[in-house]
Amino acid sequence: MKFNIALLPGDGIGPEVVAQAVKVVDAVCKKFGHEATYEKGLVGACAIDATGDPFPDATLQTCLKSDAVLFGAVGDPKYDNNPTSKVRPEQGLLAMRKKLGLYANLRPMETYKSLIDKSPLKPELVDGAEFLCIRELTGGMYFGEKGRKDNGNTAYDTNIYSRVEVERILKLAFEYAQRRRKHLTVVDKANVLESSRLWREIAQEMAPKYPDVETDYMFVDNAAMQIVRWPKFFDVLVTENTFGDILTDEASVIAGSMGLLASASIGEHTSLFEPIHGSYPQAAGKNIANPLATILSAAMMFEYAFGLMEEGKAIRKAVTESIEKGFVTEDLAAGGQAQTTSAVGDWVAARI
Ligand code: IPM
Ligand code: MN
Repeated sequence: MKFNIALLPGDGIGPEVVAQAVKVVDAVCKKFGHEATYEKGLVGACAIDATGDPFPDATLQTCLKSDAVLFGAVGDPKYDNNPTSKVRPEQGLLAMRKKLGLYANLRPMETYKSLIDKSPLKPELVDGAEFLCIRELTGGMYFGEKGRKDNGNTAYDTNIYSRVEVERILKLAFEYAQRRRKHLTVVDKANVLESSRLWREIAQEMAPKYPDVETDYMFVDNAAMQIVRWPKFFDVLVTENTFGDILTDEASVIAGSMGLLASASIGEHTSLFEPIHGSYPQAAGKNIANPLATILSAAMMFEYAFGLMEEGKAIRKAVTESIEKGFVTEDLAAGGQAQTTSAVGDWVAARI
């Protein structure tokens, strides 16, 4: 196969970790007889510096032409403590999600046996836990009407969802559940929020069409508790944008390191793959950041965007070996010698 990949390294450690994923993609292409071409685009603080716009039109066009987008991270401390700055790197991320129609964010929570002692939870809770969070990504409070009134002394954000938006994400969630352990948990706050009541109403209408899937409903506060109390309960969890933002951060620590978790955002026009950690500015340029989440995002790209499961598996196998052999960056090196970002990338690519 031939694929055209848009590379959006972004800010902070983004460029370093994306470079490792590219090495791995090239190794996979060589082994399996594919051809990948890359086109780079600017997003985030680097795009603001170069063009004034965190998601310039040139980047949008590059993404729209692509078969998949491989993305690093955005964010720069110079914007974080300045709530008055008119343009922020995160706006690039939100514009990208909206303009590419990336409505479903899939964040798998996976655990590695050799890292179980890194988890803040007891080993017996973590061992064998594995679930998929599906977060709606282009609706809700993030994109609803927002503003100020009373001379700026009252502020509001609107949590708004349409039937179409809810149906398409639930459809995807039911389908993923069918392909997995056939258990779907719909997370909402239907005891309080009208938008949640619409979600639940639609989910209850749709559930009979998926008789093989066991569907249950959970309020978000309870879900936040169950994720740490008994993570093995979950198979597929689906929820709206804001709840999903919070719950996926919570779920991410179960695995023991944020540096291992990949994500896919499925869109109307293309799909995007990114590590779930951020731009980690303290580590930028030091060649110490863990590239495995981005490398695993490339595995998801082969599987989800190109339907190439063997290729994805080859990457996962090499990553698991690097963890088991302790050929890892400092965040995972338990007493052993820490490797650099680029050394881990070279090792995984060579392994493939
Ligand atoms: C995420 C991030 C973003 C979000 C921020 C950076 C805008 O936290 O991808 O989860 O809130 O969606
Ligand atoms: Mn988040």
